[in-house]
Amino acid sequence: MLTKAGSGVSLLDHVQDLKPEIKQLTLFPSELCNYRCSFCHIWGETGWALKEPQRAIREQLDINVLKSFLDDVTAVNKNLGVIITGGEPMLYKHFTELVEHLRSKKANIYLLTNGSLIKNKVQFIMENIVALNISIDGPEEFHDSIRGKGSFKTICENIDALIEEKRKRNKMFPFINITMVLSKYNYRSIKDFMGALRERFKDANVVLHDSKNPWMKRRDLSVNFAPLLFTSQERGLAYAAQMKEHLDCDVSPAWQGFVEETIDTDFDTAILKSDLEEIWQSEGIDTSSFVDIHDYYTDIDNVFGRTKCVAPWHEMVIRRNGEVYPCVDFPDYKYGNIYENSFQEMWEGERAVKFRNYLKTSNLMVCNRCTRMFADKESF
Ligand SMILES: C[S@@+](CC[C@H](N)C(=O)[O-])C[C@H]1O[C@@H](n2cnc3c(N)ncnc32)[C@H](O)[C@@H]1O
Ligand code: SF4
Repeated sequence: MLTKAGSGVSLLDHVQDLKPEIKQLTLFPSELCNYRCSFCHIWGETGWALKEPQRAIREQLDINVLKSFLDDVTAVNKNLGVIITGGEPMLYKHFTELVEHLRSKKANIYLLTNGSLIKNKVQFIMENIVALNISIDGPEEFHDSIRGKGSFKTICENIDALIEEKRKRNKMFPFINITMVLSKYNYRSIKDFMGALRERFKDANVVLHDSKNPWMKRRDLSVNFAPLLFTSQERGLAYAAQMKEHLDCDVSPAWQGFVEETIDTDFDTAILKSDLEEIWQSEGIDTSSFVDIHDYYTDIDNVFGRTKCVAPWHEMVIRRNGEVYPCVDFPDYKYGNIYENSFQEMWEGERAVKFRNYLKTSNLMVCNRCTRMFADKESF
């Protein structure tokens, strides 16, 4: 769950003299996917890929160009964190080669995956991946109605295989985390979710992720409820105008995939809030720093004291066509392209400096419901 801003040095002050230091890369090596989740901003009703599936197959990163780029980044940070996502990351045609290369450079690899393709790669994952974030969208009937019939069963069998292998080897890694994004399709099922998982994984320790004390409880599986990232039409249009005026940037239609115009009627926030509170209490979670979920969904202007996004000082995002951006969800303000520009050119270049300088004093209109906006400086 997202947290409010803590006390101490405010992020607003923190970013004023912050020196860029790359700590994390997020890779979308392809956006191919074997699922068609209803709410997905890539393959869902409002996403781009359903209309252009051939393009999704065609646009996959050239592995040699990518490897050489990664060599430059890992030379600067010997302990780089790399998130591989998509689409489904294991469908990238050079997935294995990419992971092996990153490991040879000592990077720590995190996978955001739909969990459907783990079974054939259990040994490989055991040896190379620090943590997997697997999406499960509720108990079986809810999950399957969003992600496709039979998918809950497949994913759970895959998780079984991983847990078994971890036990056999007596290993802590990879951490297995289940993420449930709270959407209008599934929020009414949250009360049953922990019970359904404990029922399904009878021999495993299933715990609710506790952001304050993440390592307090022994676990085989941790569960995280993630609020929906969304924006409004009005904010999206204001964002486009702001980007044009201040950063001379024509934005892509990506923000439209996040527009939720009926969010306050889609959710009965009183139910959502009381169900979440009941779960947190029964799981022994300290909620004092959590954002109010009713306000989160109904008052988009409220950022809960979160003054700044620090991601552009620590993170870069590479998309399937080689384009490089500071933002994970909005491929709009481009630093350059790995087919044409070096890491240094982009990370230290004029465009990156201009973007960071703008963010020091202003926030972008679509950032209010982005996870990076809710990240602390220690998160990177
Ligand atoms: C785009 S997917 C890519 C990785 C993989 N295909 C998966 O489903 O986990 C990454 C995560 O983003 C979540 N997601 C998709 N649309 C979202 C939205 N509008 N707000 C928050 N999370 C979203 C998915 O549920 C998933 O957990
Ligand atoms: S599995 Fe992930 S990328 Fe694929 S459709 Fe679902 S949310 Fe989108």
